[in-house]
Amino acid sequence: WFKVEEIYNEFEHKCGIIKLKEVADAMTMEMHAGLACEDGSKLKMLNTHLNNLPTSDEEGVYYALDLGGTNFRVLRVQLAGKSGIKSQEFVEASIPPHLMVGTSQALFDYIAAELAKFVNNESDKFHLPKGRRRELGFTFSFPVMQTSIASGTLIRWTKGFSIDDAVGQDVVAELTQAMKRQGVDMHVSALVNDTVGTLAGGRYDNNDVAIAVILGTGTNAAYVERAESIPKCHGPPPKSGEMVINMEWGNFMSKHLPLTSYDSSLDAESLNPGEQIYEKMISGMYLGEILRRVLCRMADEAALFGDTVPSKLKTPFVLSTPEMSAMHHDTSHDLQVVRDKLKDILEISNTSLKTRKLIVNLCNIIATRGARLAAAGILGILKKMKRDTAKKGETPKTVIAMDGGLYEHYTEYRTCMENTLHELVGDELSEHIKLVHSNDGSGIGAALLAASHSRYLEADG
Ligand code: BG6
Ligand code: GLC
Repeated sequence: WFKVEEIYNEFEHKCGIIKLKEVADAMTMEMHAGLACEDGSKLKMLNTHLNNLPTSDEEGVYYALDLGGTNFRVLRVQLAGKSGIKSQEFVEASIPPHLMVGTSQALFDYIAAELAKFVNNESDKFHLPKGRRRELGFTFSFPVMQTSIASGTLIRWTKGFSIDDAVGQDVVAELTQAMKRQGVDMHVSALVNDTVGTLAGGRYDNNDVAIAVILGTGTNAAYVERAESIPKCHGPPPKSGEMVINMEWGNFMSKHLPLTSYDSSLDAESLNPGEQIYEKMISGMYLGEILRRVLCRMADEAALFGDTVPSKLKTPFVLSTPEMSAMHHDTSHDLQVVRDKLKDILEISNTSLKTRKLIVNLCNIIATRGARLAAAGILGILKKMKRDTAKKGETPKTVIAMDGGLYEHYTEYRTCMENTLHELVGDELSEHIKLVHSNDGSGIGAALLAASHSRYLEADG
């Protein structure tokens, strides 16, 4: 059992407040470096070409396609200006795993076919003004180098996707060609990351929203930057004086990150070694896998489950984060949920209560580290925006739009992240910082941005 203490030391003792403040400072520093020049940092700090967030004046029927989270979604939103959203409809499906590692054409044909089905089955058919095509906001949640608000090339895949022939291609062109093949007549008016969609959807509801963070399968943040603070963007500054930046913070790397041997082996065996190190420590795709790796070592070195390592436990990614969350939240006196999960997923029976308690403890250690590091990242952004100090009555209120399955469903994680942020910024500043859950905000955000970037706006006068 001495191993538990060792593992605890490896994870939690290295996430104290001083360490977290170092991580936050490193995040701020990397943000500056990434804004200074392309390739100035592991943080890409991508220019989204979005300099105006929704105003609530948006009107009309718009579509959104949301690809990159656990599920893939198609939405139709009817916007009624200041009266808000009149109606919305959506369908969701998961992406078949073979398409995540296949060809670009197969993936885009699949999503275009789902879009075609949705449009053909719309419950409430509406009529477009003559000569007008449907318009779409495309939420594509991977790093993209945008050349305009409605185009951009894929830099690389993350989150278990790996489709070589799509890298370097314009994803809007890929989607447009697939829509043609599937007989869908639609125009992509806006290409956005999920963080950017969440920021836009959040701003529509609340004018103080200035940052969006996704804690889901992957993790990332976007925020509103002053155009003059982006040296790598040349040319005249936008009228608004602002630009939305997609940080791609999942790729953040710093010597201050408390990496363990489990993180290193997970990274080395992943589809993208050396990349997305921060994401691999804190996001939903990886937490369960870290737990599996810790259990494997304890089974091997401390005979946690008897003389041999259970064979199922050796299968990468067999333990998902939702399963880990269910075990972590088990409140039954004999930890029945833990017992059932061990049996059903790992085929491990006859565990003692002591072993099950240890597993709950490990879930807590791993989730706590992730949540505390996520809070440090948010402090890094607040510092960059100079919103990390509170003077009574002066500090503007900062609202952070949050989304993602981890934030939404893993209560212990969310609570720990929020408490840590409070601990980091202190009582006084805490009053000025508010986290709001922007549920599915990114789809609505993409539809809003399709509306504000509609090719028909000028024609309509
Ligand atoms: C959804 C958003 O609510 O959350 C997506 O609509 C986003 O755009 C997703 O990618 C992230 O969460 P998860 O858990 O599905 O990765
Ligand atoms: C990954 C993607 C990023 C996305 C995040 C959350 O980090 O690279 O673009 O925003 O996951 O979905």
